[in-house]
Amino acid sequence: MQDDLERILFHETAILSRLDQLAAEISHEYRGGELTVIAVLSGSLMFMADLLRRIPLPLKLDFVSVASYYGDAQTSGEIVFKQTALPDVKDRHILILDDILDSGHTLATIREKLEMAGPRSIRICVLLSKKKPRARPVDADYVGFEIEDEFVVGYGLDFMEKYRNLPFIGVLRKDLIAQSNR
Ligand code: IMP
Ligand code: MG
Repeated sequence: MQDDLERILFHETAILSRLDQLAAEISHEYRGGELTVIAVLSGSLMFMADLLRRIPLPLKLDFVSVASYYGDAQTSGEIVFKQTALPDVKDRHILILDDILDSGHTLATIREKLEMAGPRSIRICVLLSKKKPRARPVDADYVGFEIEDEFVVGYGLDFMEKYRNLPFIGVLRKDLIAQSNR
């Protein structure tokens, strides 16, 4: 799998030490309150597991599962919820966790949908944020790393469902993306 990468961006140690900082920030801001974390499956799985183990607060954990990328590296803009029942968010402080903020379609849609169910507050935490204009106005309150507009895989992030189990994050070779578009 490693041969499919152009270069490594973040080794596991760099990711984990950044998570120490993010977790400290989140723990400080939500201290004394109740917190409901909603993780976006499947990309946020590794990030969620490593981040939440660093947050020593009582919290409730729930999930949403959406499909936005139909196999390739282009976002369609259409977000499909794969479950019928949404998590219970009414009167709760919600922290949405996702792997990456790209066009913004996914997080804008999830945020809007949860907002309709009357939460007390909603914040967004992403491991990665691409430096690019968003198609939908959405900002993350907590960001692990800002990256250039390149397609990355590993540590939960996939390309056609592959590479999620790489323990680090790297840039996928462009010829592999081009090949799959043919
Ligand atoms: P957005 O809706 O364009 O912001 O895209 C968000 C979703 O697209 C993320 O949750 C990822 O699943 C996927 N995605 C966007 N960029 C990348 C990438 O560089 N690598 C892997 N998945 C990505
Ligand atoms: Mg995803």
